[in-house]
Amino acid sequence: MGDVRHLYVHVPFCAHRCGYCDFVTVTGHDERHGAYVDALLRELAGRGDVLGDVETVYVGGGTPSRLGPELLARLLDALPQASLETTVECNPEGVDADLAAVLGERGIRVSLGAQTFAQPLLDTLERETTPEQVRAAVATLRAARTPSLSLDLIYGIPGERESDLGRDLAVIEELAPDHVSAYELEAKPGTRFAVHHGARLEEQAELLERHMELVIDSLAYSGYDWYEIASFARGPEHQARHNRAYWEGRDYLGLGVGAVGTVAGERRVNGPKLAAYIDDPLTAPAAIEAISARTRLEERLMLGLRLADGVALQEVEAVLDQAALDRLVGLGLASVEGGRIQLAQRGRMLLHDCVAELLDDEPA
Ligand SMILES: C[S@@+](CC[C@H](N)C(=O)[O-])C[C@H]1O[C@@H](n2cnc3c(N)ncnc32)[C@H](O)[C@@H]1O
Ligand code: SF4
Repeated sequence: MGDVRHLYVHVPFCAHRCGYCDFVTVTGHDERHGAYVDALLRELAGRGDVLGDVETVYVGGGTPSRLGPELLARLLDALPQASLETTVECNPEGVDADLAAVLGERGIRVSLGAQTFAQPLLDTLERETTPEQVRAAVATLRAARTPSLSLDLIYGIPGERESDLGRDLAVIEELAPDHVSAYELEAKPGTRFAVHHGARLEEQAELLERHMELVIDSLAYSGYDWYEIASFARGPEHQARHNRAYWEGRDYLGLGVGAVGTVAGERRVNGPKLAAYIDDPLTAPAAIEAISARTRLEERLMLGLRLADGVALQEVEAVLDQAALDRLVGLGLASVEGGRIQLAQRGRMLLHDCVAELLDDEPA
């Protein structure tokens, strides 16, 4: 038995590949769902000895809900039972009463991809789910007593006006999920979206700042705490505890094709090939990289400052430019309280610039 307390499980299957997405996904291959779950469990049996008392499990994708109720139940029942939280990512069109019952009976937190409620913007994203399907999925999950429900929102979609985003935020207020993840749309290199809309996204940096402000102000008004750069929760009990483990730099085991994990100073990225993984998940190709002490501290600073409660100064002192910190404090972008560095709202909106300032120059 080891001491890793967080487990990520990747399910790559999707009905359709959305143009903006660069996650490890496969379309089709529905006949391989059962074999894939078997392979996941073989990988768990072979590599799970690093796990200790598991606090959080996150089943992400891809589209885990595409496994359907029976297979998803089999997978969930075979995974370690998490003491704090198990989350399953679902696509709205895959949520029916049977699937919701499997999740509800097991007390599973659900993360549901809504993205936007404006049909023309969904079309730009090449998203096949409709706003009505999102509303129906929310109602079905609620009826099945989902203990905590999160909705994903994307803003900064080409053609999106402030009024469109305002309407999305009004729908969020109406649906009242327990948690919202609101992401600025990124043109991920190599995606169809980057080819068709990349230049347009680059031109709208100023607009994005206004959109982000609107998201923060509106969700605060609706009763959500902005506890992480893209995350909003109705009370601490609804914060995403698995993701918090990433932001706090904790070790986690990753299972599945393309899954990433970090255990004892080593980062492992499983290869993306479904057939090789199903054939033998323990010998399928993976990239393994030792993380230097400096990289670990830099990541600690970058990820920790995403959180409203920041990062302990003592933990990151070795990579910190103290003069830069004094400058940011002087400008009102950061503060040091109770031994923790925290970014103010404006500082968090300028997160990447602040982090770049705060990192000292690496010794030659
Ligand atoms: C890996 S996806 C899986 C969720 C699920 N399959 C779905 O489509 O809703 C998790 C979330 O990442 C976000 N995401 C994916 N690609 C993105 C991009 N290029 N820019 C911003 N957010 C993105 C979306 O909000 C999405 O719901
Ligand atoms: S956004 Fe979700 S549904 Fe679309 S391709 Fe990516 S993982 Fe699949």
